[in-house]
Amino acid sequence: MEACPRPELFDFCGVSMTSYFTKNWEKVQAFQARPDDIVIVTYPKSGTTWVCYILDLLYFGCSQERDASLYLHERVPFLELAMPDYPYGTDELEKLPTSPRLIKTHLPVQLLPKSFWEQKCRVVYVGRNPKDNAVSYFHFDRMNSLQPEPGDWNSFFHRFLDGNMVFGSWYDHVSGWWEKKQSYSNLLYLFYEDLVEDTGRELGRLASFLGLAPSAEDRQQIREKVHFDSMKNNPMTNGSTDHILDLSVSPFMRKGKVGDWKNHFTVAQNEVFEEHYLLKMKNSTVAFRTAL
Ligand code: A3P
Repeated sequence: MEACPRPELFDFCGVSMTSYFTKNWEKVQAFQARPDDIVIVTYPKSGTTWVCYILDLLYFGCSQERDASLYLHERVPFLELAMPDYPYGTDELEKLPTSPRLIKTHLPVQLLPKSFWEQKCRVVYVGRNPKDNAVSYFHFDRMNSLQPEPGDWNSFFHRFLDGNMVFGSWYDHVSGWWEKKQSYSNLLYLFYEDLVEDTGRELGRLASFLGLAPSAEDRQQIREKVHFDSMKNNPMTNGSTDHILDLSVSPFMRKGKVGDWKNHFTVAQNEVFEEHYLLKMKNSTVAFRTAL
């Protein structure tokens, strides 16, 4: 397979993007949602894979037969994905046999296809504190050959503050979706930090939002399967067969912690960050925890 070049960022409807998520835009925007579709939305590196897996197990059970035979990305297609050598997300979704369909997207709120709103689909949003989010994104861009060159940590840090990332500004993403939650009742806004703190509790919140009632035994089984160590060892979730990911540079299931930013941010960067954060988020009431 020929290596594809790392893509350039460009402005797309006011959001920085690469062609790997915009090439199929006409079909994405025209996507026909169904009323029972469940949309999982995140800014990249906020725990998407984790929550996709939890939802898949909640809906479709933990049977070994299914769980060992289908990659998570096949069970939960990525709506706007349009990368070389991968099927388009919209095509995967049209073929998906499950009901409901679980749909992954990183789109900012203003770019979600309108059919999802018209059909009043349930939306699960997951937000993660920006410091850990930035660190996780940096390592991801190092190991993913279809992301822009990350450069060194300091330049990546400044790009993150400026919102020059694939899928745009973290600040706009988390606050845009938070704002939407105030008027759209079919939206559950979860936090990565809460999931780390008490996965069982958040599983319960998810189940009740979705109108599901898993037995105590099912819950226990799901909790075991979605534990960081289990997912790290599971080829269906750990990215080990994905040819664009170089796990020798950094694992896809990297650390799974709250507070790893302390191993990356210098004191000066933290000061710059805090000041910038207050400015960017002054109009939003969403709050994140950077430590547990
Ligand atoms: P780190 O890079 O900080 O380890 P996404 O799925 O949106 O790409 O998010 C990836 C981040 O979620 C990574 O963070 C990854 O380790 C973390 N993650 C994935 N599964 C997890 C789990 N079961 N428990 C805790 N963190 C998890």
